[in-house]
Amino acid sequence: MFDYKDGKLFCEEVELDGIAQQCGTPCYVYSANSMVEAYRQYDQAFGELPHQVCYAVKANSSTAVLALLAREGAGFDIVSGGELFRVLKAGGEPCKVVFSGVGKTAEEMAYALRQGIHSFNCESESELLVLNTVAGQLDLKAHVSLRVNPDVDAVTHPYISTGLKDHKFGIDIAEAPAVYLRAAELENIELTGVSCHIGSQILDYAPILEAAERVMNLVEELQLAGHAISHVDLGGGLGIAYKSADAAPPIAEFIAALRSRIERAGVTVMVEPGRSIAGPAGVLLTKVLYRKQSPKKEFIIVDAAMNDLIRPTLYQSHHEILPLLETAGTVTADVVGPVCETGDFLARNREMADVQPGDFLAVKDAGAYGFSQASNYNARPRPAEVLVFGQYWRVIRERETLEDLVRGELI
Ligand code: LLP
Repeated sequence: MFDYKDGKLFCEEVELDGIAQQCGTPCYVYSANSMVEAYRQYDQAFGELPHQVCYAVKANSSTAVLALLAREGAGFDIVSGGELFRVLKAGGEPCKVVFSGVGKTAEEMAYALRQGIHSFNCESESELLVLNTVAGQLDLKAHVSLRVNPDVDAVTHPYISTGLKDHKFGIDIAEAPAVYLRAAELENIELTGVSCHIGSQILDYAPILEAAERVMNLVEELQLAGHAISHVDLGGGLGIAYKSADAAPPIAEFIAALRSRIERAGVTVMVEPGRSIAGPAGVLLTKVLYRKQSPKKEFIIVDAAMNDLIRPTLYQSHHEILPLLETAGTVTADVVGPVCETGDFLARNREMADVQPGDFLAVKDAGAYGFSQASNYNARPRPAEVLVFGQYWRVIRERETLEDLVRGELI
């Protein structure tokens, strides 16, 4: 969805240079069609198998994005009351919401119960006890999947790998049958599912299949023991190709492989993709402010910084950086922002277009975990967000103002 035409970079049918001129920079731009297509690839690949694709809100929680996916029939994977609030604002159906996360508060549980969400992915027995109490106070039943930790190595960055024994997530799969047995005694809990998530940015999906295999074995064991397990939730989606040398397997191929492992148990399947839906659909537009040479290095100083896109410094992640207007010549440089930290970079030692002050750049694959992880560090207002649909585009979030920076503060 991001291609050059006559030397100009387009998002769908809209010239990005025009958006940068009109909205200013830094600015996130998303392709609506790219998100919808990726969502449909997941949804359609399941075919007749009962399923629900629950988009992981944390990847990009802008309400226009959520509304777009809600209209497609998406469910949502949330990890906080705030994310539930956003989903409801965007018109998402609570009955298609699953609530993940190791540290849900009693207030968040009550909010989600009152809204009638599909289920809670619970991660510990102490969480189950609190949920049982909260549901009892509201005279409601909480539908629960226990999130099991299958002890499978996702082979990804250590910060976003979650399925090993030394991670904080889930309940050890070997202990799960005993926990299900004890939890069946809790009056306001109905154990309806099993869930698992082994990590994010996974390019080789073999570990996800391995985890699914272990989860399905557990489902069969639980069903035999008399638990009415009606759904499994297999967690996040595929990784994406941030580098041109990387190859992300097609979504349809991944889901087909997954299907063959889950069809036998007669349960509804849920998946919670975030990155593969929103990531490739977004770019961060930024303007070159200065060029500077140190004795050792060439720097391209831009107006976007680590507060706008923290992925390069937090996960050493690679994002391609393209000029909005094709430029002759290349340079090897660090692309850095205005924040007062050496860790404030968008790329290091990057061979890229030889751009000059005033030129605009697009930082690619920034639609997931970009804006949603942005902060106001260095008192920088967060960027605007724009959604493109064919030849149309619209600001879906205004750039923050200086007044926004001090809202709610008292002296
Ligand atoms: N479900 C659960 C329970 C999760 O923890 C996550 C991601 C997802 C689904 C979505 O996974 P995805 O389809 O996006 O791979 N900020 C990091 C990524 C953190 C992922 C956290 N959990 C980054 O920028 O790479």
